[in-house]
Amino acid sequence: MTDQVTHQVTAARSVERIIQGQAVMDGAGVKINRVLTQTLQRRLDPFLMLDNFGSDKANDYIAGFPSHPHRGFETVTYMIEGRMRHKDSAGNEGLLTNGGVQWMTAGRGVIHSEMPEQEDGVMEGFQLWLNLPAKDKMRAPWYRDFNGADVPVFSTEAGAKVKVIAGSSHGVNGAVQREVTEPLYIDVELPAGASFSQLLPEGHNAFIFTYRGSVNIGDKAVATGRMAILANTKGADGVVIEASEASRFILIAGQPLNEPIAQYGPFVMNTQAEIFAAVDDFRAGKLGEEAQV
Ligand code: CO
Repeated sequence: MTDQVTHQVTAARSVERIIQGQAVMDGAGVKINRVLTQTLQRRLDPFLMLDNFGSDKANDYIAGFPSHPHRGFETVTYMIEGRMRHKDSAGNEGLLTNGGVQWMTAGRGVIHSEMPEQEDGVMEGFQLWLNLPAKDKMRAPWYRDFNGADVPVFSTEAGAKVKVIAGSSHGVNGAVQREVTEPLYIDVELPAGASFSQLLPEGHNAFIFTYRGSVNIGDKAVATGRMAILANTKGADGVVIEASEASRFILIAGQPLNEPIAQYGPFVMNTQAEIFAAVDDFRAGKLGEEAQV
């Protein structure tokens, strides 16, 4: 239980826009709901992409994501249910299972694979791409796996159950902290009728994605499979989310970088010249080769 008073929101943000994701295929043929698409990268800076995968049909996920490169940003994979094995060029290997989180900082380059380790049943989760500031894009890669049990959790008196993947919520520090982008990433489960408040710095871009039930923010409903972009209202200090039925959602916020974004597939840099260099390095086999963490 945590103290409600010190975490009270006095001026709540409203919903600026409700987004329905796009059905896409990625990897070797995995069905994905791309919630945060490239057209929203500027508005939701420092976040570059959010994919939601969820299916009980093996054909939708079994092909996985065979060996592919990344440079210039971080990937955060949160597995709600299922088993996915990760291997990379830095010699890291890990099995991501129910409630687990994998945080990978590609930096100057990682080549990795993300493959399902199940032949049936449900696979459900999220992959978020978080940009790196220009000064860190060519840093050494970093990687960490967190079991479900290692992700900090707390409950509120109102009945919210909150997992803190990154940043800090109600005084509870998450599994990962980042200085420049200051990401907040929480997963909230709310019983019907309960509400949850989260303080948010005024200038940070923020959104929620509902993946069970339906929640209300002010007079706007955010149903299952919908993302709500929260308005950057001047003077607002947070958000209040109320469950109209038993619900689960993720809330993500971060400090915008306000730097140029140049993306070509799995490379996200600041300029076109840096993108060409990334492609050249990858073709020359130089991307990821020296990457011992
Ligand atoms: Co990847």
